[in-house]
Parts: sequence; C-alpha cells; structure tokens
Amino acid sequence: AHGSKPTILVSEKLGEAGLQLLREVGEVECAYDLSPEQLCNKISSCDALIVRSATKVTRQVFEASKGRLKVVGRAGVGIDNVDLQAATEYGCLVVNAPTANTIAAAEHGIALLAAMARNVAQADASIKAGKWQRNKYVGVSMVGKTLAVMGFGKVGSEVARRAKGLGMNVIAHDPYAPADRARAVGVELVSFEKAIAAADFISLHMPLTATTKKIFNDATFAKMKKGVRIINVARGGVIDEDALVKALDAGTVAQAALDVFAEEPPPKDSKLVKHENVTVTPHLGASTKEAQEGVAIEIAEAVVGALRGELSATA
Ligand code: MLT
Repeated sequence: AHGSKPTILVSEKLGEAGLQLLREVGEVECAYDLSPEQLCNKISSCDALIVRSATKVTRQVFEASKGRLKVVGRAGVGIDNVDLQAATEYGCLVVNAPTANTIAAAEHGIALLAAMARNVAQADASIKAGKWQRNKYVGVSMVGKTLAVMGFGKVGSEVARRAKGLGMNVIAHDPYAPADRARAVGVELVSFEKAIAAADFISLHMPLTATTKKIFNDATFAKMKKGVRIINVARGGVIDEDALVKALDAGTVAQAALDVFAEEPPPKDSKLVKHENVTVTPHLGASTKEAQEGVAIEIAEAVVGALRGELSATA
C-alpha cells in the first residue's frame, strides 16, 4: 500500500552500526521509555519494531498496529517479552539476535560465580562503609567443585567451557542438547534431578517457557545439596523467588547471584534483592560494548531481511 520506505520504530537503545543499516532501508524513529499506551499509539504507523527486554510486545500492540506491523526484532536472544501467539495471528514475523551476546552472557555468569564465591560485592560494600571484615568474608573455592549447567545451549556450553578452565567438575542438564555437543566440551549430560542433587553450584541457562516457569521452587530446592550456590543470568521467571528467599533463610541455598528477576526492575522492598547472601546486577548479561555492537548489527540484518521479503511478497 505504501510504496515509500518502511518505518522502523526502535524502542530501546540500539548500537549505532545497527541504526545505520536500518537507515539504509527505512525511516528510523528511536523513541525510548514509551508507556504501553504511547507504544500502541505509535505502532499503527510502523512496519517494524525493534526492542530489547524492557518493551512488552503484547497482544494490544499487535491489535493497535491493525496489520501494518510486519516484523518485531528482539535485540537479544529471549523472546519471552513478545506475545508470539498474537504475532502469528496478526501475520507478524518475530526475529531475534541469536548469537552476538552469547559470550557476554557466559562471561557475566562466570563473573557472578566468582564474585559470589569470594563475596566481592558484599566485601566492597563493607569496606566502603568504613569496615575491614576479613573474617566475615571468607569465601569458598571453585576448583574441584561440581557445577551443574542447567540449559546446555549456546550460553550454557560457553559457561561450561570456562568453568572447566577454573578446574570445576561440570555436569549439565538439557532435554534438547545433543550428546556430541556435550562430549565436545567434556561435559556429562544428566537428568534434571541428578544435576541439582549433585551440584555445589547451579548456573541457569534455559529460556523462560511454560515448562521452565518456576522450575526452581520449594520442591526442587529441597532436592539440592545443603549449601548450594545458584547463578541466574537467564530469566528471573524460572525461579519461584519466594521459595528462593525461604531456601536462603533456611541455608539450603547458601548464596545466589542474580542478574534477572521475575519483575524488572524488582520491587524496591524485594526481600530477595536485599538478602545479604544474594549478589545482584540489573540484567547486565548482554551489556558489553562488544556484544551490543554485535547485537545491533545482527538484529538490523534480520529485520532488514524480513522487511525485504515481506515488501517484495506484498508489492
Ligand atoms: C537476551 O535475551 O539476549 C538478553 O535478555 C539480552 C538483553 O538484555 O537485551
């Protein structure tokens, strides 16, 4: 219907190289921090929408687009913030950037693992508060400990590789991972139950789906080794956060290091965030300069490809 350039709305910060690619094919509008209403108002004049994790692309957004929206690009891996069912019903493609932030996420997982084991964040806060608590912050060693990598996809396998470099004994659980991928990294694939029962450290790398939602709950925490340590750079929703607070209070879980939360930002009075045995970061897994440059290009190429296909198909 509109022979002119497609309109591309970018609703969260995207690297310059990606924006440049998009400008070659369309009119690009960057509008950050839109309310759901503002997004719905804008969307009816857009052919493409590019988001990170803060924008919720709900059914209302697709309804408001009245069929004009042809592609939603998720500048990252997880597409749990996009209503895929509604996208399908409205004939809108959803594309992601599946590879460019893999290493950043894996490195952040390892950073949290080491920081947690040695109380880096707590000790930093303590010394800045004028204290010098060398006995309080005795840590635990990583070498020789068993790490269970839950979700052995791109990020999980890179975490496993790095953890082996730290001298850890790495096991993994993933219902879909091929055995040869595990073998190539030198990791044993085991059942969910076996993985959580054997681990000193558990690192989460699964997507948030109906099956994985709150898969870490009272019942599963009860099957873990007492004093287990948990790292989550995947999605907050895979953990029942109330159950985790209980497990931390009971000492079943000795420590947790969390980059993601069921609700982001988490409520200000969150017991979990404030817990002294919990180390937190604000969803920084993908946030390195290198990863964000890569992601911007990867998602721009995917969106441009989708728009080209769509525009020529409907021309
Ligand atoms: C992802 O799914 O790749 C991350 O959530 C990326 C992000 O923080 O945007």
